[in-house]
Amino acid sequence: MRRSKPSASESPTPGNAVFLVGFMGAGKSSVGRALGQRLNWVFEDLDDRIEAREGRTVGEIFRDSGESEFRRAEQAALERVLRELGGGVARIVALGGGAFVQKENAARLKAYGVPTIFLDAPLEELWQRCCAQADASGAERPLLRSLEQFRKLYQTRRRSYSKASLKIQTGDRAVETIAAEIAETLGLKKIELRTEQGEVE
Ligand code: S3P
Repeated sequence: MRRSKPSASESPTPGNAVFLVGFMGAGKSSVGRALGQRLNWVFEDLDDRIEAREGRTVGEIFRDSGESEFRRAEQAALERVLRELGGGVARIVALGGGAFVQKENAARLKAYGVPTIFLDAPLEELWQRCCAQADASGAERPLLRSLEQFRKLYQTRRRSYSKASLKIQTGDRAVETIAAEIAETLGLKKIELRTEQGEVE
């Protein structure tokens, strides 16, 4: 698929968009949410956008239409997010674990010049977190099968994740600490919100 270069109006203002990438269980959504709260930036999970548009869950898309259809929807959703960046809203976007591995998606993120942060953790910890989330909330991950398959998939993807602009370890670290590190390393600016009384929140 041929894609156009971002136009001046689509290009993000430098420093007002961050994309979180990495394997399942890396903490992309929880760190993204904490970072959004810290900076008063909008946080978005790309999988939520896909589900809202498709009217079905990621699990249902995989089950009913297959992974290739999910990847097509994922690529289209990413393209829409990128095109919205010029709107001036500062945002943090958590990508699903396979999104950045697709060459076309990584190339689009590069073309827009947005920072991509690879969140990583030891494989056993990633596995444990995914299993705990499945137990606690029934979170369905179609590619969460056996530890052996999980390990193989992680190993094939790791090189792609390493192409991100920055890598941060999340193993055994608090979400708030990781969010603070990202904000500081990238020099992200907090948006000051004012109450009706004019006080800064
Ligand atoms: C996937 C990861 C999931 C979701 C889908 C596919 C993957 O997102 O996008 O199940 O290919 O690794 P999380 O990384 O948020 O679990």
